[in-house]
Amino acid sequence: MGLGVFRALVVYAAGLFAVAQAIDENSTYWQERQQLLANEQITIMGQDQILNADEQAVNEYLMQRKMAEMDASFSSLHYLPAKNFLLAREEIEQSDVYKFLKLMPKGAALHLHDTAMATVSWVVSEISYWDNLYMCFVEGDQLLLKFMATPDTVCNWTLVSDKRASYPSPKEFDRELQSRLSIVLNDPQELPDINAVWKAFESTLIAMTGMVMYRPAWEAYLSRALLEFMEDNVLHVEFRGTLPRLYELDGSELTEEESLKVYQKVSEKFLTDHRATYFGTRYIYAPLRRVDNITTIWSYVQLAKRLQQECPNYLAGFDLVGQEDLGLPLKDILDPLLTLSEGDVKVPAFYHAGETTWMGMSTDENLIDALLLNATRIGHGYAITKHPKAKKLALEKGVPLEICPISNQVLMLISDLRNHPAAGLISEGFPVVVSADDPGTWGAVGLSHDFYEAFMALGGAKADLRFLKQLAINSIKYSSLDNDSKEELMKMWQQEWDVFIEEMKRLINARGKLITPTFVSVNTTSEPVV
Ligand SMILES: *[C@@H]1O[C@H](CO)[C@@H](O)[C@H](O)[C@H]1NC(C)=O
Ligand SMILES: *[C@@H]1O[C@H](CO)[C@@H](O)[C@H](O)[C@H]1NC(C)=O
Ligand SMILES: *[C@@H]1O[C@H](CO)[C@@H](O)[C@H](O)[C@H]1NC(C)=O
Ligand SMILES: *[C@@H]1O[C@H](CO)[C@@H](O)[C@H](O)[C@H]1NC(C)=O
Ligand SMILES: *[C@@H]1O[C@H](CO)[C@@H](O)[C@H](O)[C@H]1NC(C)=O
Ligand SMILES: [Zn+2]
Repeated sequence: MGLGVFRALVVYAAGLFAVAQAIDENSTYWQERQQLLANEQITIMGQDQILNADEQAVNEYLMQRKMAEMDASFSSLHYLPAKNFLLAREEIEQSDVYKFLKLMPKGAALHLHDTAMATVSWVVSEISYWDNLYMCFVEGDQLLLKFMATPDTVCNWTLVSDKRASYPSPKEFDRELQSRLSIVLNDPQELPDINAVWKAFESTLIAMTGMVMYRPAWEAYLSRALLEFMEDNVLHVEFRGTLPRLYELDGSELTEEESLKVYQKVSEKFLTDHRATYFGTRYIYAPLRRVDNITTIWSYVQLAKRLQQECPNYLAGFDLVGQEDLGLPLKDILDPLLTLSEGDVKVPAFYHAGETTWMGMSTDENLIDALLLNATRIGHGYAITKHPKAKKLALEKGVPLEICPISNQVLMLISDLRNHPAAGLISEGFPVVVSADDPGTWGAVGLSHDFYEAFMALGGAKADLRFLKQLAINSIKYSSLDNDSKEELMKMWQQEWDVFIEEMKRLINARGKLITPTFVSVNTTSEPVV
């Protein structure tokens, strides 16, 4: 360090000292500053949760781990929520915060899609090894998979087992299959824009759906998905589906009503087998919004009514899915949608709306329609901060947003999750729940990866155990369950929560030094010294 720089530093330090002297700790400036921060703190989601002594001890540990991770990133600029999840997943799984969240009872998962709920590696290692599974390619590169006793002539089918045997090793084939059923193995750079990534994503769903809609495969898939959520400490699952008709080996198809009854039967069996650790499952019928004409929407709505009548406890409601910018806006299909809330059989709505970076276009304006159509919850609502009046209305009506951070990142609405609009909403205490959307597609499991992103990026440095507790409570409060069931679920969650806190406290005590938070700053000696 040259003498000139040294002198400059001395002068600079003296200047700081002078400022510090001028504004003493009791000056109105500091009082105002403290007041402002304190007032802001009041509205951050979860701030009115009160932690008991055990929870406080666990919170100390959690915040120590969180701040260690944040402080390290503050200087290294390497922050996992800013990195595409496809590249960050393995690093996230090393994080102590992630490990904590995995064990934490998270309540309910309220935004998921049927054929992307379970891990794809399981589908490959299990279902793709069943007999009678055929594959073929159409339109160049779209993989189709189907179970058949005798192959039909729709496509040039090959037995998967034969194809696998023709590869140098089964492992090589399985890897390729996995890459066609998910985007886990993709480099995000191969999917450079929103249309490209949606195309790849929808292509995985087409391949997956053909295979798992074979009735026995679906029974296995749904049970597996529920198991993965239960093992991730989720008690209740509400998932959406387009309700493709299940089929049998001889090619016969079940009706939509029969298909839904299979879903219900599997869910009930799963519940019977896991009553101590699982609460239940509900289904939101959510067909594709990208159709040519309103006639199709009328048929959707009529089916929704029939399903609601036949399975009132299992069907939670109605939604429309698919890349929103390319589908019909809600305002163009109001006539059929309005009938959902008319007549004797009413079907609650759970619209995906405003899953877009646009402003002032049909997609973000779907938010207005979703609210006027009395949606119970809004899927994503990513654009809501651009519609302050809609936001206010949602708040007044108590309509939460279902935030799926990883989905928004992988599907290219936002790259650095610290910039996600939900961060601002959370700082104001706007009601949100966190869910996983299509975890299987990008290699997430259950809710924990999304909770990690929410905790580290959306809640900011000050979000602590109270924030996480509030997220779990919100997921129960905003579930589609009736009041009595919500109360029952809340009791079950509270019991699991208490056990979790007790267990964590024991673990922390056993490891002694972790009990006192030390807000570690990383050594930055490798940084250039000015
Ligand atoms: C600030 O106020 C506190 C309490 O009113 C007092 O004890 C303290 O001496 C004050 N500090 C200064 C620098 O005036
Ligand atoms: C059908 O698939 C088989 C095996 O993959 C291939 O050898 C054959 O050329 C294909 N036939 C047509 C008409 O594409
Ligand atoms: C409406 O769209 C569906 C498919 O989306 C198509 O099968 C049907 O023929 C269309 N009807 C009219 C009247 O255009
Ligand atoms: C929405 O709810 C309000 C208040 O209950 C009701 O007046 C209105 O008719 C409902 N709108 C629709 C489209 O269901
Ligand atoms: C359920 O509880 C909410 C809020 O506590 C209340 O507004 C609503 O009327 C209750 N619904 C029923 C059907 O009791
Ligand atoms: Zn979704």
